[in-house]
Amino acid sequence: MPPTANGNVTLRGRGAPKPPIHPVEYEKSIYQKGLQYERPPFSFHPEQWEPAAEQRMSADARGYVVGNAGTGETGRKNREAFKKWSILPKRLVTTKGLPDLSTKVLGQRFPFPICVAPVGVQCIFNPDGERASAAAAARDGVPYIMSTASSTSIEDVAKANGDGVRWFQLYWPSRENDDITISLLSRAKEAGFSALFVTLDTYILGWRPSDMDNGYNPFLRSDNIGVAAGFSDPVFRSRFKEKHGTEIEDDLHSAATEWTGTIFPGLSHGWDDIQFLKKHWDGPIILKGIQTVEDAKMCVEVGVDGIVVSNHGGRQVDGGVSSLGMLPRIVDAVGDKLDVFFDSGIRAGADIAKAMALGAKMCLIGRPYIYGLALGGEGGVSHVLKSLLGDFELTLHLAGIESASPEHLNRDVLIREDQL
Ligand SMILES: Cc1cc2nc3c(=O)[nH]c(=O)nc-3n(C[C@H](O)[C@H](O)[C@H](O)COP(=O)(O)O)c2cc1C
Repeated sequence: MPPTANGNVTLRGRGAPKPPIHPVEYEKSIYQKGLQYERPPFSFHPEQWEPAAEQRMSADARGYVVGNAGTGETGRKNREAFKKWSILPKRLVTTKGLPDLSTKVLGQRFPFPICVAPVGVQCIFNPDGERASAAAAARDGVPYIMSTASSTSIEDVAKANGDGVRWFQLYWPSRENDDITISLLSRAKEAGFSALFVTLDTYILGWRPSDMDNGYNPFLRSDNIGVAAGFSDPVFRSRFKEKHGTEIEDDLHSAATEWTGTIFPGLSHGWDDIQFLKKHWDGPIILKGIQTVEDAKMCVEVGVDGIVVSNHGGRQVDGGVSSLGMLPRIVDAVGDKLDVFFDSGIRAGADIAKAMALGAKMCLIGRPYIYGLALGGEGGVSHVLKSLLGDFELTLHLAGIESASPEHLNRDVLIREDQL
């Protein structure tokens, strides 16, 4: 690879993902191995991933990933919302093959309608952290969204992701730190991240009882967890040196506190600030954390390319509405004007089918892949992604739904349980 002006290796060059094999092949390979009495290393029960991973994690890490804001009401509502909708399986649909799972977002066709959600501090779950999840995503043809709060630098995540599709998630510093934001964006661009996801719901961490019970905030530790993007940033480094007269490495505690205050500034930006991002990011911009029709319409007005209908998995506002509950209204209001991504509560193939039928173009997988990471590093993440996709593929196939495109996977395939 050619060296760049700053001496780094160019990490650019995202093409369309490789054509995939059908995810259901994974099931076949398991049964084949079973003929030799070989058992899979990970469970195929999605609901067992969380308890199994809990046994492998420290109390701090467990509280961090499983925990929610407040009483956990929004987290529970996220899951309950899926049960309100049921799939209507059709019979004698003559199909030519397995369903086409591809979807088009951000002007490009992707083989599968899922991507890996941005999750910070992944080295607390497994020492290989983001390297493992980024490698698994690339291997399985699933876009990877890297968190600003990663425990691995932007450049190292890019290397691990290789020729995979990768997108960068921004925790947005306040405007007096615009130079740091610009630096993060240009590093991400240089490292081959092709879209920018801006998280709007976390300018400060939510009220999280599990973390407070443990007295645990992973970002404040002086152990380099959750601060890698900042500690490797030339602008942040020189600012720190100017202010303290020392290198970051000489005062890790202050540096961690300062970086945490930079990416979680405590106060929200406003709609006018989006123009700044548009000026400094040459590529699609997607706003993550949208939960109201009004905000979705504002996203159209400010001219971004997509939104993620998300409540951060119930980790920010307790008592907040379920993310799936709001999805159809938001899709009706803006679905033809920008790409609607969805997350918060996806745990199985049927959940992906329901979110897509309600109008999402792509679903972000969050906690489940982190459980895979805790259980088995890259192999564990890959297992979760392949399982979700295989389950999704068979769910469509057996319901007579020919593809994941809106032509076939739409509200006609769903019924509300409370209307039965
Ligand atoms: C442990 C953990 C860390 C997270 N870190 C981030 C992050 O750094 N940036 C971000 O935008 N979202 C973050 N999220 C939210 C996810 O991107 C996603 O919105 C959420 O996990 C969806 O909910 P679910 O996992 O319950 O399906 C995090 C979620 C979890 C569970």
